[in-house]
Amino acid sequence: MKIINTITEIRKFLKDKKEIGFIPTMGNFHKGHLSLVEQSNKKDTFTVVSIFVNPTQFGPGEDYSTYPRTFDEDIEKLKPYNVDAIFFPDKKTMYENQEMYIHDEGTLSQKLCGKYRPGHFKGVLTVVLKLFNIVKPYRAYFGRKDYQQFALIKKMVKDLNLGIEIIPCKIIRDPDGIALSSRNAYLSKDQREKALSLNKSLLELKNAFKNGELSSKILIKKAQNILNKVKIQYIEIIDPDTLESVKRVNEKTVIAVAAHVGNTRLIDNTVLGEDDL
Ligand code: PAJ
Repeated sequence: MKIINTITEIRKFLKDKKEIGFIPTMGNFHKGHLSLVEQSNKKDTFTVVSIFVNPTQFGPGEDYSTYPRTFDEDIEKLKPYNVDAIFFPDKKTMYENQEMYIHDEGTLSQKLCGKYRPGHFKGVLTVVLKLFNIVKPYRAYFGRKDYQQFALIKKMVKDLNLGIEIIPCKIIRDPDGIALSSRNAYLSKDQREKALSLNKSLLELKNAFKNGELSSKILIKKAQNILNKVKIQYIEIIDPDTLESVKRVNEKTVIAVAAHVGNTRLIDNTVLGEDDL
């Protein structure tokens, strides 16, 4: 496992490597991140992980400066896996004199989280494209936890003909059902209790769907009743590809929710027809 900080060095290291599986991250690993590494280990000859807390995807007042940076622990957590290189650049390496950005004005980035975090996906897509150009992976792994991010990256790869296979990975949860997230660490015990209503609401809607409820309006009402102790930012029932709201649901329909618990913003989602959350 080689730790590399510069673009020149990682390019040199990966020059003759074929079938690179790539996992871009901002570090502070939990089982969600590690599950992506595991998927790559199953498929790819080489596995590269990047750790970079990307400043351009944080808005003013968001948690860029306080985002947990736990490099030494992260390296320990990667040791049981087969990781050939960890790309760990600093801000200057990634952004010195940068003027070009991916300003995605397409419909996908205007919805869901994009509506409430202006500029967020400009930062995400820009850094992911840069990392793709540096690592030149064959496949790249993204968690479905950040559903809109996954959908946008898939679209960017298709529309810009990047020729990288984007592999969606299932959401890893704690035993109580809460989706693992670095931001869960910000929650007090009482707030965590409240945060559980996000996954509970998704489960409730899955059950309602199983029992024949197909109306998005009714499903949203049900979710709102469960989410009464958190500050809902959105609860949307959407088509998995276009992210457009749908009036009637089917098993491929995605339910996505974002809410604030105290100052912490949490997101979760599920595919209605899939058995597990
Ligand atoms: P980060 O939040 O560190 O997440 C890195 C990857 O781990 C993403 O693909 C994310 O969807 C996945 N992930 C996080 N929690 C997960 C969970 N509970 N189950 C499964 N996968 C999970 O997402 C980012 O970083 C950044 O936006 C990045 C793509 C690195 C660009 O800066």
